[in-house]
Amino acid sequence: MPTALIAIDQGTTSTRAIAYDAALQPLATAQQELPQIYPASGQVEHDPEDIWRATVQCVRDVMAKASLAANEVAGIGITNQRETTVIWDRASGQPVHNAIVWQDRRTAAYCDTLRAGGHEPEITAKTGLLIDPYFSASKIAWLLEHVPGARARAEAGQLAFGTIDSFLLWRLTGGKVHATDATNAARTGLFDIGAGAWDADLCRLYDVPAVLLPEVRDCAGKFGVTDLFGGAIPILGIAGDQQAATIGQGCFTPGMMKSTYGTGCFALLNTGTQCVASRSRMLTTIAYQLDGRRTYALEGAIFVAGAAVQWLRDGLKIITRASDCDALAVKADPAERIYLVPAFVGLGAPHWDAQARGALYGLTRKTGAAELARAALEAVGYQTRDLLDAMKADWPAAQDAATVLRVDGGMTASDVAMQFLADILASPVDRPVLMETTALGAAYLAGRAAGLCPDLDGFAAQWRRERRFMPAMAEDLRARQYAGWQDAVRRTLSVP
Ligand code: G3P
Repeated sequence: MPTALIAIDQGTTSTRAIAYDAALQPLATAQQELPQIYPASGQVEHDPEDIWRATVQCVRDVMAKASLAANEVAGIGITNQRETTVIWDRASGQPVHNAIVWQDRRTAAYCDTLRAGGHEPEITAKTGLLIDPYFSASKIAWLLEHVPGARARAEAGQLAFGTIDSFLLWRLTGGKVHATDATNAARTGLFDIGAGAWDADLCRLYDVPAVLLPEVRDCAGKFGVTDLFGGAIPILGIAGDQQAATIGQGCFTPGMMKSTYGTGCFALLNTGTQCVASRSRMLTTIAYQLDGRRTYALEGAIFVAGAAVQWLRDGLKIITRASDCDALAVKADPAERIYLVPAFVGLGAPHWDAQARGALYGLTRKTGAAELARAALEAVGYQTRDLLDAMKADWPAAQDAATVLRVDGGMTASDVAMQFLADILASPVDRPVLMETTALGAAYLAGRAAGLCPDLDGFAAQWRRERRFMPAMAEDLRARQYAGWQDAVRRTLSVP
């Protein structure tokens, strides 16, 4: 009986495959960087063929490294950068255009028009999202409008739309399966997350023919079979990357929260079967759908987390490696209170201010590199507190829950940033042993569908903490520091 699992993690900047044994211990990893295409200011594309080639190569490499034959692999789980939009020809499998990446802002004016038309309340009520170029719907509309002949071919049923999971599933199954999972569908702006179905009114509003859309399924189940790796391997799991990380972190109980710190940061708070509408401009999304039952989450996105440390390294050149930031930050003068509002590309949740730009406050003649390093690390904590406070305002149950934040992503290697996070949240922060939580979540979904892995409770019980950071800051200092941050953000907003 096959007992290995393979997770494909197709992210914004790289594609990875990780092989696991039946106990979900990693056996081998393969990775390839993904070229970024910037056709114009504010535009970001990926070549779907680059994504495809890298995916196939990573799976081959990881099987070779772990000495796995196809008949030893019980299943593949796919997790992916969300919202990124591909349209391809059903007959040839060829994309009609590069993929438009989630960061791409080319549809900003179109979104402004929709907002001015008063459509946001309906869209938010159905999808849990806002009107923003971030989500797939306006990207699909753009492709149908700008690729010659695309609209007619779409209406004739000749084209298919998919987020990256769906595109990979189509290719892996040789064009046999056009499907996605509920978490990826929830990020398109066309999916009614309460009803669990594509919404005909929203499709009309964005002028998207329903025939273009994939079938939406549970996150774990038989999606299809690939025979590209030396034998038949079933594809048994799909989830968007932030949702897969939520699963990998074992955040299955309402009130549990995970936060992933990469270039930016995505925090998800499990709200159970309650689809909580946000009054603070957070997103409502599907955390996972299993056995036909949906579990919901509130989500907040911060655009700049680790990117602030990259700026210290590549822009200011005051550190040579990201890992040097801690050693510098601890030298900062505690009496110096510097705030860095890293709005390099605007501010995300809960402000959603695309025009804001970064600012430093509190500079004195004594301010130096150490204070800037500390301010960059602290900015992550402050922004996470903004998200957590907004979520608590949206969902009173979260106020009672003793929230423990489970963290992952490259920046969590910074002990200084994680301690400050615990201090400013006044909540414990848990760093897990297995840091690759996104891939782990995808592997678990596949393992669950294969009957190899335990149920959610059993899997959650296997989660292991590497270190817990306990809040150690005095309450009055916490209040003063956070008030200073809020003041700094107020001054930075483009429309105060
Ligand atoms: O919503 C976008 C998110 O899924 C991208 O994640 O890890 O590829 O930057 P990542």
